[in-house]
Amino acid sequence: MSHSLRPTAIIGNWKMNKTIAEAKTYVFELTPLMRHSRKYVGLAVPFTMIASAAEAAKGTSIAIGAQNASDAEEGAFTGEISSSMVKEAGASFVILGHSERRQLFHENNALINRKLFRALAADLKVVLCIGETKEERDKGETEKVLCNQLSGCLEGVTALQMANLMIAYEPVWAIGTGKVATPESVQVVHHFCRDQIASQWGQHTAEHQIIQYGGSVKPENAAALLEQPDVDGLLIGGASLSLASFSKFIDLK
Ligand code: PGA
Repeated sequence: MSHSLRPTAIIGNWKMNKTIAEAKTYVFELTPLMRHSRKYVGLAVPFTMIASAAEAAKGTSIAIGAQNASDAEEGAFTGEISSSMVKEAGASFVILGHSERRQLFHENNALINRKLFRALAADLKVVLCIGETKEERDKGETEKVLCNQLSGCLEGVTALQMANLMIAYEPVWAIGTGKVATPESVQVVHHFCRDQIASQWGQHTAEHQIIQYGGSVKPENAAALLEQPDVDGLLIGGASLSLASFSKFIDLK
């Protein structure tokens, strides 16, 4: 399988960090660095920054996204924000199913599946996060967990809709811990995921499916990860907060 079917996707996940002013400056400074890049470059920013970041990114190829969205369209859901709202604010994608959402906010595959349909209906691309915990890995359950997450979160999704979706494999034990998974072990998992996608949606869909890796990605370990044939991009938390470090990912071949 060749990389050439799939653009490299580099997405920064700012989590709950930065101010509106910082977001604008970041996007303005990132813009000239994008000129020769053929990668898909996105920033998943806090809700309050979407509009200003999207405004700053106008006319560039930088995609601005949200880190979550509701499974409801509108109504009495105090504190929630819908996919249509983030789309209206200027987001073009949304991260769903991040392990912090799953663990801290008790999101399960069925809820993520409902959110995913709302997001696709609002014309947002979806970055669907999956990944096993350390305990699950130690018990040899990695493939079973990923299989359940993929089938649960993607239930009812058509091959056509898969084109608006990126998968991000983020082993929970690697997120924010400095413990990056080895490129070889990431390749094995990505290949497994691609096989699962092929068995459900066919070879063509699988070959075009972008599968990113996330979890303690740094400029120093990124190249070896991206060299793996089934690693099509990176979802970057901590190392996306400084532009000096994020820009290094854009420069990688
Ligand atoms: P990290 O986070 O790069 O800080 O490990 C990745 C993520 O949570 O998406």
